[in-house]
Amino acid sequence: MSNIKACLFDLDGVIVDTAVYHYKAWKRLANELGFDFTEEDNEKLKGVSRIESLNLILQWGGVTKTDAEKQELATRKNEWYVEMISHMTPAEILPGAKEFLIACRAAGLKTALGSASKNSTTILNNIKIVDLFDAIIDGNHVSKSKPDPEVFLKGAEAVGVAPADCVVFEDAIAGIQAAINGGMKSVGIGSPDVLTQADMVVSGLDNMTIEKLQTL
Ligand code: BG6
Ligand code: MG
Repeated sequence: MSNIKACLFDLDGVIVDTAVYHYKAWKRLANELGFDFTEEDNEKLKGVSRIESLNLILQWGGVTKTDAEKQELATRKNEWYVEMISHMTPAEILPGAKEFLIACRAAGLKTALGSASKNSTTILNNIKIVDLFDAIIDGNHVSKSKPDPEVFLKGAEAVGVAPADCVVFEDAIAGIQAAINGGMKSVGIGSPDVLTQADMVVSGLDNMTIEKLQTL
C-alpha cells in the first residue's frame, strides 16, 4: 500500500499547454531584435524561468544586452504573453487533468501546484480550477529553478506532508530531477524514452488513476 499523501503538479505541459503562447511571445521578441526563434528552440525553454529563457534566446541570437535592457525585454514579452493567456478558458485544460485533481481530493490527498511560472494564478483562474489546489507555489515564491527541488519542497511544506509522502507530476526532465532531488516520487507526463528517471510515465493525466498512484 502506498504512503502517498500529496500530489504536486507542474502546470505547463501537465495541466495546460501554454508552450505555444510562450513561443509566440518569444518569437515576436526575437524577430524585433532581428533574429528568428524556432519551435525546436522553444522545447529547450520548457520549465525554464522567464529571465533564464531570455538569456538563452539572446545567446542563440548572438545578442548582448545589459541587465536593465534584459528586464525591459522580459517585461515586454510577458505583456504579450499575459494578453494571450487572458483569453484562456476551461476548454484548454488538458484531458483528464481536472478529473484527476477531483479524484485526488476525493481520495483525501492534498494537491499543490509547483510551477516556474509567475502567471500561474492567472492561468488557474482563467481555466477555473484554482479551487482544486490546497497550495499554489510558483515562480513568485522561489529563487531556484528546477532541477532544484525548492518549488516542490515548498509545496510539500505548504500542505503539511513529508517529501517522501509526495508524488510530483511533471513533463520536463528537469522537473523529474527536482522531484528526485527533493526525495519525492515522480510520475512523468510524456514519453518513457525521455522521462527515464520517473517512477512511472503516462501519456497524460487521462491515463492516471488513484489505483496506479497506490502502486508507487
Ligand atoms: C514554465 C514554462 O512553466 O514557466 C516556461 O515551462 C516559462 O516556458 C516559465 O518560461 C516562466 O513563466 P512566466 O509565466 O513566469 O514567464
Ligand atoms: Mg512543464
